[in-house]
Amino acid sequence: MSNWWKKAVVYQIYPRSFKDSNGDGYGDLNGIIEKMDYLKNLGIDVLWISPVYESPQDDNGYDISDYRKIYEKFGTNSDMENLIKEAHNRGIKIVMDLVANHTSDEHYWFEESKKSKDNPYSDYYFWLNPREDGSEPNNWGSSFCGTAWEYSKERNQYYLHYYTKKQPDLNWENPKVRKEVYDLMKFWMDKGVDGWRMDVIASISKYTDFPDYPEKLGQKYITGFMHANGPRLHEYLQEMNKKVLSKYDCMTVGEAPGSNSDIARLFVDPERKELNMIITFEHMNLDRILNSPNRKWAVKDLDFKELKSVLSNWQVKLRNHGWNALYFENHDQPRIISRWGNDTNYRKECAKAFATILHGMQGTPYIYQGEEIGMVNAHYKIEEYDDVEIHNAYRELVQKSKSISEEEFMAAVWKKSRDNARTPMQWDTSENAGFTTGRPWIKVNPRYSEINVEEALKDKNSIFYYYQKLIKLRHEEQILTDGTFKLYMEDHPSLYVYERELENEKWLVVANFSEENTILDPLQPYIYEKWDKVISNYQEIGVNMHLRPYEAFIIRRVK
Ligand code: NOJ
Repeated sequence: MSNWWKKAVVYQIYPRSFKDSNGDGYGDLNGIIEKMDYLKNLGIDVLWISPVYESPQDDNGYDISDYRKIYEKFGTNSDMENLIKEAHNRGIKIVMDLVANHTSDEHYWFEESKKSKDNPYSDYYFWLNPREDGSEPNNWGSSFCGTAWEYSKERNQYYLHYYTKKQPDLNWENPKVRKEVYDLMKFWMDKGVDGWRMDVIASISKYTDFPDYPEKLGQKYITGFMHANGPRLHEYLQEMNKKVLSKYDCMTVGEAPGSNSDIARLFVDPERKELNMIITFEHMNLDRILNSPNRKWAVKDLDFKELKSVLSNWQVKLRNHGWNALYFENHDQPRIISRWGNDTNYRKECAKAFATILHGMQGTPYIYQGEEIGMVNAHYKIEEYDDVEIHNAYRELVQKSKSISEEEFMAAVWKKSRDNARTPMQWDTSENAGFTTGRPWIKVNPRYSEINVEEALKDKNSIFYYYQKLIKLRHEEQILTDGTFKLYMEDHPSLYVYERELENEKWLVVANFSEENTILDPLQPYIYEKWDKVISNYQEIGVNMHLRPYEAFIIRRVK
């Protein structure tokens, strides 16, 4: 099998927010096809498309009711086949989302399963008896607040759901379930799909004795270490690899909550024959106060030193033992420049600085739609948000338990909520940013007249062209794929400096994540006496390495 994905740059599309072709306010597959030349122009190699299957959309398609059918608002199966063809014609590969930890409660398997204890689908899901007092079988929590168990009268039992109660968890202990999943993967791969992004794949194996979590102050239901990395996880992935993945020249990236760089090796060490890459949360959780009942809404400032330390650790630990998936944004994360940077005075510099340090590392970089034009977070009123995660948390934490004030919660929503990434793609300055001629399913970010694709394509110094250049470098420069990684100035609070080295070539990647002019100490051995600029976000590199606000560049040593 070739490792084509090592030189690839992935672009993620969240279909309902990308481009609406028929004026119903929802993005769709034909909208993606319309924009295929835009994506080709950017230069990306792979499109990861968030779920497009039949779904009641309780969690925007991460609740699938038919894995073999396209959701009608997105189009038809033949539109999907056409999309694969249009992408392939341009040399772009397609990665679909495999949501197999859970289905929708409207999936046929679940509808059957809940009918009785002895129907053929009975053990496709996890059903447990109530405790003596009628309460949930244990204290496990849902990732979207409240309990992870829902009672069903028909069976007088509870079923497990790590996400909403409309997302029952599949029972992978059952070989029939695993076979169903492998079959649906083959169904799409035989239509030309080139790989999978695997939704919460780290959670598919459960601790089937379902022990309670140790109590945590102030928390009735707990989500923690037992929700991921269960005892049979790697056995299942090896089976999936053997039965399906090994038969195709495909790319796989598994979403792995609860991972660190040691756990990562278990997934991605090529010798283990599991996955190519995983999506970790370790760096994304650095601005979260741990063990708070307010979960991700308990926000703290990022310590830049920690970010450098986590990312470098992954670079070092996975070297020769796997491959990194490099990302700052996706449909579950806010816009990076609003989260950890400056999305007003230094919006463009800052977006390019984040891009520089991400694309300079070893691994496969992921760009989330709109990141390439520097889209920013939205500040909406609570009723203007759509995401089930926000509304559940608002009810549970603000209204019910009152563990967070309304003001604090809204500030956290503006900073961290998933809808920040899900506002419609901003194409131009026309109404609704050119996303739809109808009424968009979620409000367009009001800054669209300033931030949009049309503007980016006109400005030769735009973020878009910076990404285009970075992508080209990834394709052409072997040092970016294979070079070693070495971090400098670990303890500096805002300078991000690392070196890549391959044979007798040396590159230095530098970024100043502050609004102050900052000096890169010229006495350090890493300042090459003679160097060439590879890329930079200011016209000329600062004299004597005086870095201006959010200045970033890559330089190469002159031999
Ligand atoms: C992770 C997905 O990325 C997220 O959007 C979804 O809500 C959960 N998994 C549940 O499928």
